[in-house]
Parts: sequence; C-alpha cells; structure tokens
Amino acid sequence: MRKILLATEKPFSAAAVAEIRQIVEQAGDVLETLEKYADPAQLAAAAATADALIVRSDKVTREIIAAAPKLKIIVRAGAGYDNLDLEACTAAGITAMNTPGQNSNAVAELVIGLMTYMARNQFAPGTGSELRGKKLGIHAYGNVGRLVAAIGKGAGMTVEAYDPFVGNDTMKQEGVTPLKTVEELYSTADYISIHIPATAETKHSINHPLLARLPKNATIINTARKEVIDEQGLIQLMNERPDIKYAADVAPDADEEFKTFGTRYYATKKKIGAETSEANINAGLAAARQIVEYFTTGNQRYKVN
Ligand code: 3PG
Repeated sequence: MRKILLATEKPFSAAAVAEIRQIVEQAGDVLETLEKYADPAQLAAAAATADALIVRSDKVTREIIAAAPKLKIIVRAGAGYDNLDLEACTAAGITAMNTPGQNSNAVAELVIGLMTYMARNQFAPGTGSELRGKKLGIHAYGNVGRLVAAIGKGAGMTVEAYDPFVGNDTMKQEGVTPLKTVEELYSTADYISIHIPATAETKHSINHPLLARLPKNATIINTARKEVIDEQGLIQLMNERPDIKYAADVAPDADEEFKTFGTRYYATKKKIGAETSEANINAGLAAARQIVEYFTTGNQRYKVN
C-alpha cells in the first residue's frame, strides 16, 4: 500500500479531494492530505513517508526532496512547474510531471474578465471602452493562449500571436495571425495576454525596451508568472505613459509602487487563475490518475524532467 500525499497550501475543493481519494483508494493506495499549511517544515514532515506527491504551486525544494526518501513521483496538478526543483528530483530518481491543459480554460476566462474589468476602469463610474474591434496579442500560443484567442475572437477582437514553437498553419487555421517577432506583437496589440512559462530565459524578459513599443492605450494582462515581467521597467513605462494599464493574476513584488497607478493597475490578492471547481477537478483528478498509471503501467507521459 502506497501513501500518496496531496499537499496544497491553496486547497482544492472538497469535491475534487473526494474524487482524488476515490481514484487513489480504488488503486489500493492511501491518500493523505496536507492543506493550508504555513510552514515548509510541515510539508517535509508529511512527505517523509510518502511514495507520491501531488502539489499545486507549493514549493518542492531540494530540502523537501531530501526529507522524502521514498518519493518516486511528484505531479504538479497544473501547468507551470517552476515550483519544482527538477534538478533535485532527477538526482533523487524522482519523476516529475505536470497536468498540461487541465486548468487552461479557467485561466483563459479570467483573462477575458480582466480585460473587461480594465476596459471599464475597474467598474468605476464613467466612460470605458469595448473589446470588440481591438487587437489582442497572445504572447505564447499554448493551451491557455489558444483558448484566450478563441474567446477574444468571439468578442469581436482581431487576434495575433507570437510563439516560435507553434507552427504558423495552426494559428492561421484558428483565425489567428502569426507574428515573426515578439517586438512586432508588442508594437501592434491593444491588449497583450502573457502566457510564457517562467524559466531562466524568460525571467524579466518583458522589459522596458519591449514594453515601450506598446501602442497608445494598451493594456497588459499577465496571468503567467510575475517573474517574467521586469517590474521596474514596467513602472518606468507607466510613469512615462499615462495611457498604459497592467492587470495581473497575483501581485508583483512591487505591488505598493504599482498601486500608485490607481485604476490603471489591478492584481488579484492570491493567484486565482485556476480557482474554479472545474479546474480543481480536471487538474486534481488528472494528477491522481497519472500517479496510479505510473505505478501500475510505468506510464511517464507528461514527465518534465
Ligand atoms: C498553473 O501553473 O497551473 C497555474 O498557475 C495554477 O496554479 P495553482 O494551482 O497554484 O492555482
């Protein structure tokens, strides 16, 4: 009997946890949960006897891995796995996976909500603007970017995208104009929606020289990671350009400085992109199934290390 630990500082819905438990128990294993914990030491203690671990954005550091000698697999129930120390996983012989696409729709719907919220001056009285007829620029055409494009088109927006890893034909077939350079994207879009992962190459890559290209009245929506933005570069731009707006799912480090921009800036208090019951169920159950399959058939699909 294996112990599968579901460690979520930001818990899944009770319904999702019940279904995860069912999958684990049907496989003859045991589910233990650690929710809303405040101290990484609690995660280390709970992981000490675990064979498998499911997390969300919980940080799985070298120290946690060292404290968990039985661990064979970690599944990040979600898309971004920048919270996992992959080198430490590999060195310890642990398979790390994510569950790509499972919470993408929730994030895409939030993007559209944030665009409308910013277009209407955070629902303050007074004249705002509409999305229809505006140009939406998708920065990375992955699972989320693609859904944002589809909803944007439904709202009557013209959609363009930059993604060197996705073929032009795929975008064209979906009514999206592929752009050759990221500079072109930032020079032309009224709304930029960011969907790049946080990696050593992308951290702070959205910087002042790139942002300075934005056309008049542009809005940047960041439901990716705060680290991809060069915060001081963006603050400089928003000081230089009173027409530019920024909305983010989870506050930047310089939240207090950004707050001085009033309704030109908005950030969620805690990351809520994937916080829907549907996304909880999709990502949580996928993670549980991937673990059961890994142990029963050796299936390593979605391995990221
Ligand atoms: C992801 O990478 O899947 C999203 O950012 C969601 O993260 P969360 O599980 O912490 O809400």
